[in-house]
Amino acid sequence: MSNKMWGGRFASGPGAIMEEINVSIDFDRHLYRQDIAASKAHADMLAKQGIITADDAKKIAHGLDTILSEIADGKFVFKRALEDIHMNVEGRLSELIGEPSGRLHTARSRNDQVATDFRLWMRDTIDTLDAALSGFQRTLAEKALEHAGTVMPGFTHLQTAQPVTFGHHMLAYVEMAARDRGRFADARKRLNEMPLGSGALAGTSFPLDRDMTAKALGFDRPSANSLDAVSDRDFALETLAAASITSVHLSRLAEEIVIWTSPLTGLVKLSDKFTTGSSIMPQKRNPDAAELVRAKTGRIIGSLSALLIVMKGLPLAYAKDMQEDKEGAMDALSALSLSIAAMAGMIADLVPDAAQMKKAAGEGYATATDLADWLVRTLNIPFREAHHITGRIVAKASDGGVALHRVPLADMQAIEPRITQAVFDVLSVDRSVKSRVSYGGTAPKNVKAQAKKWLKKLEKK
Ligand code: ARG
Repeated sequence: MSNKMWGGRFASGPGAIMEEINVSIDFDRHLYRQDIAASKAHADMLAKQGIITADDAKKIAHGLDTILSEIADGKFVFKRALEDIHMNVEGRLSELIGEPSGRLHTARSRNDQVATDFRLWMRDTIDTLDAALSGFQRTLAEKALEHAGTVMPGFTHLQTAQPVTFGHHMLAYVEMAARDRGRFADARKRLNEMPLGSGALAGTSFPLDRDMTAKALGFDRPSANSLDAVSDRDFALETLAAASITSVHLSRLAEEIVIWTSPLTGLVKLSDKFTTGSSIMPQKRNPDAAELVRAKTGRIIGSLSALLIVMKGLPLAYAKDMQEDKEGAMDALSALSLSIAAMAGMIADLVPDAAQMKKAAGEGYATATDLADWLVRTLNIPFREAHHITGRIVAKASDGGVALHRVPLADMQAIEPRITQAVFDVLSVDRSVKSRVSYGGTAPKNVKAQAKKWLKKLEKK
């Protein structure tokens, strides 16, 4: 049997392989809310413009509402023979209301329909992700406030660099998530144009009121070029790019959790809620959730690459290649959503081992910069020279196998005679972090102020 939506010139239906490669209902069924909302807005507009009767529009709206609840209640039977969500909905509408259902597709094509549905879906998804990221930021800021004064080793090259506070480290990710939200918001602003009314590619001869439909669907405006509107997937690419960067941030934090919870550092503990055991090694507590967040980045970035590659050789306007936009994007954005939830859960759950952190912060001569700064400030030695003197003192400490604050004063004076007992004041890790009061620095009072600022900002939303 030929397809009843487009089969007029076909004598028989598609072959099994054709149907298999063509079908998209398995994933575009997730667009059902958006598809039905767009159809209702379209039918209303057609009636207002006198293109269909008010009575038909009413029947259509009623039928669409029935379909919406059938799908939401899991009672709807999706048919693969009807290819996609658009034809599944219209097919059912025809069963429910008969002849008027055939008028819904006036002045519309699946090309402008799918572009509209997918934009609406993307917009909803961005809103959900934004709320999740805001919650994640709040969790981080709360942890930051709690640990504004908890000293830990700060690293560059994963080598102990200078002491920082755990709160400061948490707030770094609050800033990153703020930029992520900014990128999603930016993508949302640009995607909020309505393709519906572009028809297949050239526009339509019917006297549409596209402003009315756009307004009903919450779009800022109708798209200005029909060729562009049906063939543009920038909105998906931009959203996936924002998602990719977000997932890279989550992956970096995940990697840190893996490092912090490793017995090699022992800086942080995760509860049973976020660890798993080994089937052979009874002592193990594995940070699987962090590892999986780190790994999900692969499929998220992968879906961006995949869609860029799908789009790169396509002439205007629509081509069926573009049907490949949805599966990867949906998978990627749901993986991101799960990753944000898992990461927020782990941050709330984790407990830093303050004693171990402080001990680690004191190792690796982490206060060497404080010593050099003291030489500059107290003895007016140029920084380059102070750096050199400090290097020699560190070498001495290293030879003796002792921490910097354990090097005898006499040994320091052998290198620089003007050094006094007062130097020991700056060699403790607590003094070091307290001294980092420059705006954006790690001093506990800065961290407290920043954490409070964020918590206030985040509660407003
Ligand atoms: N399922 C299709 C997609 O996702 C809908 C548009 C089909 N248009 C067409 N002319 N075959 O892209």
